[in-house]
Amino acid sequence: MSSIDVPLHGSRFGQTSRRDLWWVQPLLTFLGLSLFIVYATWAALQGNHYRYGPYLSPFYSPQVLGDATHAWFGAWPRWWPSWIPMSAALLILWAPGGFRVTCYYYRGAYYKAFWADPPSCTVGEPRKIYRGERSFPLILQNIHRYFLYLALLFLFFLLHDLWRALWFFDASGLHAYFGIGVGTLVLAANLVLLGGYTFGCHSLRHLIGGCVDQLSKSPARQAAYNCVGCFNRRHMLWAWMSLFSVMFADLYVRMCAMGIWTDRRLF
Ligand code: FES
Repeated sequence: MSSIDVPLHGSRFGQTSRRDLWWVQPLLTFLGLSLFIVYATWAALQGNHYRYGPYLSPFYSPQVLGDATHAWFGAWPRWWPSWIPMSAALLILWAPGGFRVTCYYYRGAYYKAFWADPPSCTVGEPRKIYRGERSFPLILQNIHRYFLYLALLFLFFLLHDLWRALWFFDASGLHAYFGIGVGTLVLAANLVLLGGYTFGCHSLRHLIGGCVDQLSKSPARQAAYNCVGCFNRRHMLWAWMSLFSVMFADLYVRMCAMGIWTDRRLF
């Protein structure tokens, strides 16, 4: 077996023997995640333009509070503190956000891109001690399994949103009819990509395969385990595609609601 010499001890920050473009991937990760964080924060603070016709932005789903017609618990209560923005997104985004922040893939990616811990494999890092995820605060990353339960629940909400995105109202607003618009396809693509990301979760694989001694004795469980494994093999790809799809789905609904983009009806 071939081997390489990896002198880690005593190296300065950024010091490495590598000659490849090792810094490209952390840089792209930094730019991609920064773009998402800035956009998602801005969109979540708006509190408006999140609904257009039968479309609801995924950043605002489920809509817990908001307009009296659509929100689960109706309009915003009078006692709502004026210094907290009235945005339904702020009430729910902690769940999908927590799911991503604690994801095994993203942890590896943002530890490198944002904390340079290390910047890349066999590249000198700015710290001398390594405490890993066994002590506070990173031990909290183990909460990922519980965020997975919430993420699975959110997929049902988005499926329900997609169903509603298939029903358009006539000019009177009284009669709904079946149809498909570009917005329907945008929401459908987002649901597929979020599903591919969620069903490839490492914790889901552990959940399915972790509580039996011999997986092969349970064909259904074995099939589910293999299925999750298929998604898991491309987890990084699903993670990025779903990150951008959820951002684009919000942008699409927002642009249509603001009258900047026109939603085309396909039939
Ligand atoms: Fe990435 Fe669970 S490990 S979503």
